[in-house]
Amino acid sequence: MTIRKGIILAGGTGSRLFPITGAVSKQLMPIYDKPMIYFPLSVLMLTGIREIAIITTPEDQPQFRRLLKDGSDWGLSLTYIEQPSPDGLAQAYLLAEHFLDGAPSAMVLGDNIFFGHGLPELLADADAQAGGGTVFGYRVVDPERYGVVAMDKSGAVTDIIEKPAVPPSNYAVTGLYFLDGSAPERARSITPSARGELEITSLLQSYLSDGTLRVQQMGRGYAWLDTGTHGSLLDAGNFVRTLQSRQGLQAGCPEEIAFEQGWIDTAALRALASRHSKTDYGTYLTRLADGA
Ligand code: G1P
Repeated sequence: MTIRKGIILAGGTGSRLFPITGAVSKQLMPIYDKPMIYFPLSVLMLTGIREIAIITTPEDQPQFRRLLKDGSDWGLSLTYIEQPSPDGLAQAYLLAEHFLDGAPSAMVLGDNIFFGHGLPELLADADAQAGGGTVFGYRVVDPERYGVVAMDKSGAVTDIIEKPAVPPSNYAVTGLYFLDGSAPERARSITPSARGELEITSLLQSYLSDGTLRVQQMGRGYAWLDTGTHGSLLDAGNFVRTLQSRQGLQAGCPEEIAFEQGWIDTAALRALASRHSKTDYGTYLTRLADGA
């Protein structure tokens, strides 16, 4: 099987978070002690993906490069792709077609934060599917803000609808999409929606009508956090802070995942820790390198 590649879609103007996103990309906003993009990046790394494309606006790309560089510090290979205008999530597959080069992919939205015991197993299971697609359904109180799963009486998925006025269920489709190598080709045949965007839900419908889309429930033991409003952004930061200070363990720590995956050795981890020596983050990395 071709090795799955990763995509982080971190475009958009961040207009719903103005004025804090007036000069800096939403996906670089702090989630307590680290930039938001660390979290979706961690999800791809936990899946075992090392070749990752980061899609941003042309203006924001330099900041992402400054933060993440070429990825080699963390055993990754990062490619940067520009999205000149935000024409929908499915456009990512067109922009990344050359990068993907026929490989299956896992795309995660740069503002989606996942946390939960068992996440690595859930990801491994999706990764192991050779063909078709896997997406995750998560129960929310406000499904009308998302892509929503429609099911028949037996629980089989019949449709996925983007931001329906009358949601057919409480199950939102999260911003994490495992799709096979046919995604760019399928994306090419999508027509823009009423709001003029290539909707991810249209791409998912293409798999659904072929009978090759799995909608995996992400149960109540998982956190899928919202960062779409000022309040929810702060809540997400507080969630991470509460968890980390209680456990003494980091959430969304790429250095730790790279080390656990065997992509960087102890000496490399120690060198990364020394860059953060003035913070608890650095102390944490040193402790990991010490094996404590
Ligand atoms: C997008 C997708 C939607 C999905 C959501 C997850 O919406 O269009 O289907 O449920 O991400 O975060 P957006 O957040 O861009 O409005």
